[in-house]
Amino acid sequence: MSTADLLAFELDAVQKFQQVWLGYTESQGSPALRKEICKLYETIQPEDILVHTGAGEAIYLFMYAAFKEGDHVIVHSPGYQSLAEVARAVGCDVSPWLAREENGWALDLDELRHLMRTNTKGIVINTPHNPTGYLMARADFEAVSKFAQEEKLILFSDEVYRESEYDPATRLPAACDLGEHAVSLGVTSKTYGLAGLRIGWIATKNKKIYQNMASLKDYTTICNSAPSEFLAEVAMRNRKKLIDRNLGIIKLNLTVIDDLFSRRANLFKWVRPKAGSMAFSKLLKGDIEDFCDDLVKKAGVLLLPGSMYDDSRNHFRLGLGRKNLPQAVERLEEYLTKQK
Ligand SMILES: Cc1ncc(COP(=O)(O)O)c(C=O)c1O
Repeated sequence: MSTADLLAFELDAVQKFQQVWLGYTESQGSPALRKEICKLYETIQPEDILVHTGAGEAIYLFMYAAFKEGDHVIVHSPGYQSLAEVARAVGCDVSPWLAREENGWALDLDELRHLMRTNTKGIVINTPHNPTGYLMARADFEAVSKFAQEEKLILFSDEVYRESEYDPATRLPAACDLGEHAVSLGVTSKTYGLAGLRIGWIATKNKKIYQNMASLKDYTTICNSAPSEFLAEVAMRNRKKLIDRNLGIIKLNLTVIDDLFSRRANLFKWVRPKAGSMAFSKLLKGDIEDFCDDLVKKAGVLLLPGSMYDDSRNHFRLGLGRKNLPQAVERLEEYLTKQK
């Protein structure tokens, strides 16, 4: 979406945007933006929100604020790379908590108990999940939260795809609303489709982690971009319209992919996502790296091999968020037909 399209949501937005002051902004994030972000949560106040330059900065600062060398951290896997790698960079021992395709990419709570060590300090989860589109069942989510609370662990809940559930009734509570042990991560990039704003945030009632992250932010970005904060405030105030727009694109694309995979069931295994703009499917014949490489060279269609996620079981990530997906699928089919 362009800046003009976003500003068109509100009558006086263009004029207000032109008046945005370009000095340093408040380090925690503008009060007006934090007030809007709070509406995502039940019990969170503006002082519990720390705005960052994208979710990426927030993940980075969280790992350094919450953990130290020698700590053990359990991380949902496969997953967005920095959720595990920054913890490793801090010097933590990271145990992957493996999502399995045969379980619809669900996480197994018994496995979580087995992964525990005496020096375990945190659990990192991501639901709705990149890359599988898995959405945890509410009872499981609450059980993970309770487990973390009882074991005195920090629960870092990457919720950047929250509000992109295909069925809104399946939306999970935000972890930050479940207690001081939890930190929720949000961003304008995913569900709201505005990655170029580079506005992300954490929400937590854990004052110690909040303060540690706020102190570290003085060494990274100090404060956020003032124009982006204004635009993010407009976006969050109008987030329902953004959600409808983006889910409209995704749902249309899903019907095209459903058709493709039912026609090509001998070649692809399809676990339909429950939220978000991506899926993790399996190539049943051949090697996924060779397939992706040849496909992008010959047909100009880019699929991401699962090896980029340390997956060795021939999966690939499929993006569902672009309007030109039907054209890409046509090209993929032409390519497959020529292979015969
Ligand atoms: C699960 C997850 N968390 C965090 C991020 C980082 O978001 P951003 O690029 O907006 O900083 C991403 C981006 O792909 C993601 O998929």
